[in-house]
Amino acid sequence: AADGYLFAAPENLAALSGAMKECLDRNYYHVLDRINGRPYGALITAGSDGDGARRQLERICTGWRLKAVAPTLIVPMRAQTPEAILAPKTVPDDWLARGAELGGTLAALLL
Ligand SMILES: Cc1cc2nc3c(=O)[nH]c(=O)nc-3n(C[C@H](O)[C@H](O)[C@H](O)COP(=O)(O)O)c2cc1C
Repeated sequence: AADGYLFAAPENLAALSGAMKECLDRNYYHVLDRINGRPYGALITAGSDGDGARRQLERICTGWRLKAVAPTLIVPMRAQTPEAILAPKTVPDDWLARGAELGGTLAALLL
């Protein structure tokens, strides 16, 4: 029922996180051809890469015929050891600002 969508998920094992993938799997065919043309923004957090999850999410959004309001943001959290990956993380301020800008762009298009 939303007028637009903001997707945010981590990359795990070169793919979208299982939780995000399951959400998309559960909803894909229920809304196919019912949300064509709606705007979306996307944000991936990643240890060092993020491109696999980005491509996967963008393909799904293309299938839904959604329109990207901006390039997908890949937020580099720079966690690469098991300890760093499993630790709580703080998103740096400049990336928080870029995320807010992405959300603001999407919101402005919904007015
Ligand atoms: C099981 C697992 C697999 C991961 N695989 C990747 C990966 O393929 N590429 C990458 O860039 N980061 C990978 N990461 C790092 C996460 O994307 C990164 O830590 C991100 O910040 C996760 O969000 P979180 O801090 O909320 O847990 C992986 C993390 C986990 C736990």
